[in-house]
Amino acid sequence: MKYPLTLRVLHWLIALLMIALLIIGFTMAELIKPPLQYNLFDIHKSLGVTVWGLAFLRIVIRLVSDVPPMPPQVRRYERTLAKIVYACLYVLMIGFPLSGYIMSSAGGHPVAWFGVNIPLIIEKNKHLSHLAWQIHSLFGYALLGLITLHFLGFLKHLIFDRENLLKRMW
Ligand code: HEM
Ligand code: HEM
Repeated sequence: MKYPLTLRVLHWLIALLMIALLIIGFTMAELIKPPLQYNLFDIHKSLGVTVWGLAFLRIVIRLVSDVPPMPPQVRRYERTLAKIVYACLYVLMIGFPLSGYIMSSAGGHPVAWFGVNIPLIIEKNKHLSHLAWQIHSLFGYALLGLITLHFLGFLKHLIFDRENLLKRMW
């Protein structure tokens, strides 16, 4: 049994976008200078807001869909570990864009989704903006760690248990 088509499409779309956002995020802040930097900020925000929307959609579809049960040979600790990693990834799908939005909004910077302005509902507040930036940055390292764990888990099942879980998600 596979994950439903919508969940498979959303898994790979969100995975691709979040990996791209990590790369754009870390490089645009350090390595790129204006004016290209401002273009990258706009692209980064647009893609980040896209992840936000897709993540809500994914969570709703996930809650109402039948998904394949974990294979019986998966051990209990592996089940628990996988569930914790999935939960953290879902938290980041929502929390990452949220922290970005709060950082920009409280910093007095505009947020647009491919040219469509998104209302800034948080008043200018330097401390809040700085805190949201610290969280956004911390999330970056957390996401790197989680994707690595997630990928190592997949490899472990493929190599040691000869179980290709990708068939369920492809
Ligand atoms: C590095 C490439 C990736 C590979 C090879 C991969 C592979 C997989 C596979 C095979 C599953 C299904 C596990 C099962 O059989 O139950 C899965 C589930 C999942 N993946 Fe990934 N994935 C990747 C990247 C990502 C990224 C970047 C995210 C971050 C958003 C992510 C989030 C998830 C979540 C949340 C689930 C659980 C789905 C659910 O049951 O709701 N994956 N992934
Ligand atoms: C899943 C979505 C997102 C991911 C994975 C992501 C990732 C990142 C990363 C890794 C950085 C570099 C942090 C650092 O310098 O240590 C960054 C910076 C930044 N992100 Fe995001 N981001 C996302 C969504 C957003 C959203 C929705 C916004 C705004 C609406 C946003 C605004 C920014 C800004 C303004 C910076 C530059 C901060 C600075 O001045 O250094 N991000 N992002």
